[in-house]
Amino acid sequence: MTHAAGAPWWANAIFYQVYPRSFADSNGDGVGDLDGVSAHLDHLSQLGIDAIWLNPVMVSPMADHGYDVADPRDVDPLFGGLVALDRLIAEAHARDIRITMDLVPNHTSSAHAWFQAALATAPGSAARQRYIFRDGLGPDGEIPPNNWVSVFGGPAWTRITEPDGTPGQWYLHLFDAEQPDINWDNPEAFEDLEKTLRFWLDRGVDGFRIDVAHGMAKPPGLPDMANPDIEMLTLDDDDPRFNHDGVHAIHRGIRSVLDDYPHAVTIGEIWVFENEDFAKYLRPDELHMGFNFRLVRAEFDATDIREAIENALAAASLADASPTWTLSNHDVEREVTRYGDGATGLARARAMAMVMLALPGAMFLYNGEELGLPNVDLPDEVLQDPVWERSGHTERGRDGCRVPMPWTGDAPPFGFSSNPDTWLPMPAAWASLTVERQLADPDSTLAFFRTILQLRRRRFHFTDYDVEWLQLRDDAVAFLSGGVLCVLNTGSTALPLPPGEFLTASAPLVGGELAPDSAAWIATD
Ligand code: GLC
Repeated sequence: MTHAAGAPWWANAIFYQVYPRSFADSNGDGVGDLDGVSAHLDHLSQLGIDAIWLNPVMVSPMADHGYDVADPRDVDPLFGGLVALDRLIAEAHARDIRITMDLVPNHTSSAHAWFQAALATAPGSAARQRYIFRDGLGPDGEIPPNNWVSVFGGPAWTRITEPDGTPGQWYLHLFDAEQPDINWDNPEAFEDLEKTLRFWLDRGVDGFRIDVAHGMAKPPGLPDMANPDIEMLTLDDDDPRFNHDGVHAIHRGIRSVLDDYPHAVTIGEIWVFENEDFAKYLRPDELHMGFNFRLVRAEFDATDIREAIENALAAASLADASPTWTLSNHDVEREVTRYGDGATGLARARAMAMVMLALPGAMFLYNGEELGLPNVDLPDEVLQDPVWERSGHTERGRDGCRVPMPWTGDAPPFGFSSNPDTWLPMPAAWASLTVERQLADPDSTLAFFRTILQLRRRRFHFTDYDVEWLQLRDDAVAFLSGGVLCVLNTGSTALPLPPGEFLTASAPLVGGELAPDSAAWIATD
């Protein structure tokens, strides 16, 4: 990738997020695994990516599909164990693809040996001090210690039964009850994380996506939330559950370990929208990069999109860090559906991919994005996301964006698995979206992604993280970046294109002009 001399490999890199359960299943159990990823590395090489981000593959009861880690220094047999990861690292490296992993420091699984020890010992024990246990309020301690809610719905506290059989203390879990939050005031938390970091880095991993990187530290006294009715999976900037200042010391600790492995990168999941606060995570002795979710939140609207880009650039620039861009991941509705579904949603998703890939910084594509997959409306009985149960069946959760990838053939499971009983059912209508089908069609979304990823590599020359805005029309977004002009038409009439060498567009031009819901790249040098 072209970038400023001396910039690290990740500065303008293309990361491809593999949701391991849903990428490819090598052993016919209906769930994707790491040998499945190794078997499809050609697909990723041909796309032209620099790195893979693997969602968690550590040992887990899978209450939150791997974000509930029972042993942070081993790979779950479901995904093929450590040997399968070693194979993937070797085979990816042989193709110049780096491997980054998810790291989950905010909580463990309730099956983790630490939590089991906490349950087996009395209040106040050393084992209890590794988590956040409190006595309940009310005469019999039957009221949770504060009003915090779980991000997945319901209270953020669960009451345990003490070893002597009496109703006992409560423990904090910002997510599922099977994901108890670690007490980061206890030095053992960092000592153990350091072991985990070194374990994976010594095995050849090239970095980490850090889960809930704005969590971990909790405010003293655990004050009540002002707004416990907050909509699920959305976060306020003044929410006491997150973004407590103490978190920065933890990131400095992580960075001091990473500095022993200069090839490796950390990218924090940071749901913080005040630019000054966001930038704090990217100070030179903290994370290398932070996920900025503004583009995910932006509507398909010229003003919204421009504001999202300006803010994300400003936030990264405050810390002199590389900006990051993403349109989707395993937690949000797929962009084709967000932008209106059907032909319109797909056209807009393709246009937005060109907007994103024209920007300076690191890109995060989510598996299936290159196929133009939409979200899937799944029937109640197959839903697996803990959000569905915890919300009392009012929120369907995130399964709809996690349906397995269609590779080949005319019927489910489309070469994803040899087993028709895939962990989430695949829609028959995806016959037209398989990798195989799209490879045979020069106008497919896959062909389009290959073209734009190649053009980004060849024609953009990023020397800094600035873009220059052009005002063409109120319903257009236009900016110069890396020597290329990107124009997006969010309006309902065709848009005349400025002069220059036309590189490509996300939809055919109409009478030489840019069609509604499409974007174009024009070289200016
Ligand atoms: C992050 C992950 C999400 C997970 C949660 C709890 O937000 O992206 O998938 O459920 O953390 O670990």
